[in-house]
Amino acid sequence: MANILEIKNLTKIYKEAQNEICVLKDVSFSVEQGKFIVFIGPSGSGKTTLLNLIAMLDKTTSGSIIFKDKDLTKIDENLAAKTRLLDMGFVFQFDALLPEFTVLENILMPAIIANKKAKTYAKYLLEKFGISHLANKFPPSLSGGEKQRAALARALINKPTILLADEPTGNLDTQRKEQIFKDFAQTAKEEGTTILMVTHDIHAANYADKCYKIEGGKVE
Ligand SMILES: Nc1ncnc2c1ncn2[C@@H]1O[C@H](COP(=O)(O)OP(=O)(O)OP(=O)(O)O)[C@@H](O)[C@H]1O
Ligand SMILES: [Mg+2]
Repeated sequence: MANILEIKNLTKIYKEAQNEICVLKDVSFSVEQGKFIVFIGPSGSGKTTLLNLIAMLDKTTSGSIIFKDKDLTKIDENLAAKTRLLDMGFVFQFDALLPEFTVLENILMPAIIANKKAKTYAKYLLEKFGISHLANKFPPSLSGGEKQRAALARALINKPTILLADEPTGNLDTQRKEQIFKDFAQTAKEEGTTILMVTHDIHAANYADKCYKIEGGKVE
């Protein structure tokens, strides 16, 4: 299958006063469409940095990030915003659902911003993740795992090409973690969504199509 993402010689150096921290050193890898890819590394190894660079939320020091045949390190802020809204989905360590909106409203939010009708698809996703009965509840009354599945549905509502997940199971117990990993694997397979997930959790490797180690600035 075709590569949806190609990272070429990516380097990220943070400069602080006299210090330079080289977080990613000449990193190269490519990702096929519809695969669930996991990056495992310790705290401070550059996991969030890597996702932020792909999401264009931070600037690369050198190298290129080719996504759907465009170099994301070279596109302007308008196209970056459009790409984030329509082509990328995000799941964070803490669910970041808006507490004053219902679960269904939260899930629909990115579709409303993109001016898309998505109620039917939202209901499909609620069903798929086993949270249909929670559609009209408010996030503070959900469990951690339920919130994370709602956040996953929200990240998928615009049918993104790629889903970027930063430590999405950080605050869940083992059983709920494994459910999220299964949901990711199934979503990649059934929806054709490419999923990049970073985590400390070595168990994630059991569910991934491919697993990279991220450590000492290298991704291998
Ligand atoms: N804006 C910044 N300025 C300077 N240094 C930074 C900045 N952001 C991150 N770093 C440093 O870069 C390194 C990698 O940070 P990053 O957040 O990518 O790690 P991580 O693997 O996501 O860690 P964790 O598992 O704790 O979330 C760390 O040493 C961090 O201190
Ligand atoms: Mg991080």
